[in-house]
Formats: sequence, structure tokens, C-alpha cells
Amino acid sequence: MSETQEKFSGVKGMNDMLPVDGAYWERFELAARGIARAYGYSEVRTPIVEQTRLFKRSIGEVTDIVEKEMYSFTDALNGEELTLRPEGTAAVVRSVIEHNLLYNTPQRLWYMGPMFRHERPQRGRYRQFHQFCIEALGFAGPDVDVEIILVARRLFEDLGLENIRLEINSIGQPDERARHRAELISYFSAHAGLLDADAQRRLHSNPLRILDTKNPVMQAMVDGAPRLLEFLGPASLAHFEGFQALLKAVGVEYRINPRLVRGLDYYNLTVFEWVSDTLGAQGTVCGGGRYDPLIAMMGGRGAPACGFAMGIERIIDLMRQQAPLEPEPGCDVYLMHQGEDGARVALTVAEELRTVGLDAILHCSAEGRASSLKAQMKRADASGAAFGLIFGEEEVAAGEVSVKALRESASGGAQRRIRIERLVEHLIDEMAGSDDFE
Ligand code: HAM
Repeated sequence: MSETQEKFSGVKGMNDMLPVDGAYWERFELAARGIARAYGYSEVRTPIVEQTRLFKRSIGEVTDIVEKEMYSFTDALNGEELTLRPEGTAAVVRSVIEHNLLYNTPQRLWYMGPMFRHERPQRGRYRQFHQFCIEALGFAGPDVDVEIILVARRLFEDLGLENIRLEINSIGQPDERARHRAELISYFSAHAGLLDADAQRRLHSNPLRILDTKNPVMQAMVDGAPRLLEFLGPASLAHFEGFQALLKAVGVEYRINPRLVRGLDYYNLTVFEWVSDTLGAQGTVCGGGRYDPLIAMMGGRGAPACGFAMGIERIIDLMRQQAPLEPEPGCDVYLMHQGEDGARVALTVAEELRTVGLDAILHCSAEGRASSLKAQMKRADASGAAFGLIFGEEEVAAGEVSVKALRESASGGAQRRIRIERLVEHLIDEMAGSDDFE
């Protein structure tokens, strides 16, 4: 490479998933998919890009996400204002309304994929990150709130994760929040001298978020602020109590966190977060709640709904800590060859082996011509394959192949020559007799 050649790097805060990470992602995705199905949820996929106004309307104009974290741009071809999705709920609700999915039928939906927020990157906080999400639309009772909590709990258990605690709260209905908000503004105004710049900015736009402050100087004052739970009417309280009674019935431990308000505007009644203490500052691995007003707000026929999103990078960080995966074993066979005939026969046999269900790597050289058998054998060893197959000139001329066990446990490292037409049968017998393939 010449010195003047330009180098490229990925966009800050956006990560590559490399082959060494693959096992974790696959393990998570398979478990999530299977558990979502076990609870009757169906997959939905929406585009990565939506109209900007969709997110402004649903997430709320005065939230961190809409104010400063969205990747928005104008489509140069038609002038449309578009945004890379910062979350999925808005898009799913858009899709459900657009396709009339809620007509007489509640919907249990799940999805996973990349989301984009222009945040300051740190451990567990990225600009492109991935979520696994559940949305239950058309159900009003607290039973479904508990159901989605159970989906998360089962997934944590399945992945071998422990010590993830559940925090819950109820943020009531819009009118209850309006009364609480007025009280909060007068309380914070009376303590104006203690408010930091962020809190002063939010005092009239989003005073509820001041409760979320991490500023230690403000903690005592914030602790004394009027609590939303005291402003809930009987129906909201009954929902919250029903939710808690059912959590107890299924043995889910939780803590009420009166300061839990969530950073998106569409919520009402139940809100919750699952939090781990071993992830540093970004310990929330899953957040969600009820968003009954959203469907009507977005032009649909009003229907209750609730859901959650789980941060997959954070979960994988926990998996590495608590339930590390063994390195993947190599493939079943690695095929080496010599000469034109050997190359052709190896290519053909590799396909036959894959057809009968064996994983096969065919040696291909960096130079485009056959490397020495010694060099090929090095690659075969490094691949972790159970068997090396050598289609040398001599073997191929005799219609044979040398089979060498590469792992100690696979037939004790012996090498044998056998007829090519017997190869499949031979390998299957060998594998059946080996600890590696039980
Ligand atoms: P959220 O609280 O904004 O909710 O995000 C949910 C989870 O996504 C967080 O708890 C965290 O684990 C992960 N997450 C968020 N931002 C980042 C980031 N920058 N880097 C890494 N992980 C991140 C929602 O997105 C709602 N749509 C959840 C929901 C679904 N509510 C109802 N249905």
C-alpha cells in the first residue's frame, strides 16, 4: 500500500460486528426470536428511514432525542425531510395504522435492528445501536404489561443473566400529569437557586425530566419534589395496583422508583426499566411501558398499547461477563488438493458433502494457484476442522482421498486412504463414533 493511499475508518459511535462477536449476536437473536414466538408475538420489519415529522409527533418535540439526537436529512431528490429511526415504536405504530392491522384484532409484534441517536459515545452508548423490541397493541389491562415483563425475564434467564433488577412506576394520564407538572414548576421555581443550567432550560418545557437529574447537588431538592403518584386518580391507581398484584403472582421482584419517567413523551400509566449495576453508567438494559395515547395521536382509531426495547449491545456486554460462550468449533472438513484434477475433484466433493449436511471449507490460495500441501495443512489445522481431506495427485489418479483426523478427539489423529465414493459414508461413521459429534 503506498503512503499516500487514503485510509478509512468507521463513523464515530458506530461499530462493526466482527466474526469473533458473531456467536453472541446469534445466541441472542435465536433466543429472542424463540421466546417472542412462545408468547405469540409475530415479527414486523419497518424501514430504517421514516419521515422526520413522525418522530417529532410521537417521541415529542422537547425530548433529548428530537431536540438533539436525530440523524435527519433532506432527500436531495424530492426535498422530503427524513430521519434514521432513533427508536422503533413510532414506526411500528405508523405501520399498524397504515395497514389497518388493528381492525378488530389486537396485535402482538416484535422486531429487532439498528437504531440511530447522535449521543456522546461511551461504553454501552453508541450512535448506531441495536434493539430487540416487543409491542402489544390493542390490550388495556395490566395483564399484558406483566406479560411483556415476563418476556424480558425469560430472555434474561435463557441467556444465563442474573442480577438485573426491575424498576417500575406509573406516570398516570395526561391530565394527572398536567396537575403534577404545574405543582412541580412551582416547587422548582421556589428552589430556582439550586437548578443547574439543564434544569433551568427544562423548567417550563419538560420539568418531569428534571427528576431524572444525575447532578448530586440537586438530589436532596429533587427528592423533596411533589410525586406524580400522589396525583393519580382512582383508575390509574387501580391499573398500577393490578400490575403489581400480577407481578407478585408470577414471582417477579420489583422496586417502585417514583423518579422513573422515561425520556419519550408517548407513555402513560405503567413505565419500567430493567437495570444492571455491572455496566457502568449505561446500566439500563431494557425500557418500556404503556403508550395508550399514541395510536390516536398519530391519526389511528384510539387503542391501548404497551411495549419495551432492549439494548442488545448492553445485553451482550452482560453475557460476556456472566455467561461467556465457548469459541465456536471449526467446520467438519477442510479439503486440500494438488494439481488441476485434484482441484476439480475437491470442489465437486465439497459440494456433495455440503449436500449431505457437512460443513466444508475448500482450500483456496491467496495467489490463485495451488499452495504446497504443507501450507494447506497449516490452514486446515488453523481452521479447527475435524477432518482434513487430501486430494493429492496420487490419490486422485487412484480414485482415492486421504482422510486425516485433525482434532485429537476425532479418531486419534490417524490418516487413511479411502475410495472417494465411500467418503461420505466413512465420514458419517467416523463422526458418529466421535465425542465431537454427539
Ligand atoms: P429507550 O429507553 O429510548 O426506549 O431505549 C430502550 C433501550 O435501548 C435502553 O434501555 C438501552 O438499553 C438501549 N439504548 C438506548 N439508547 C442507546 C444507545 N445510544 N446505545 C446503546 N443502547 C441504547 C425506546 O426506544 C422505546 N421505543 C421503548 C419502547 C418500546 N416503549 C414502548 N415500546
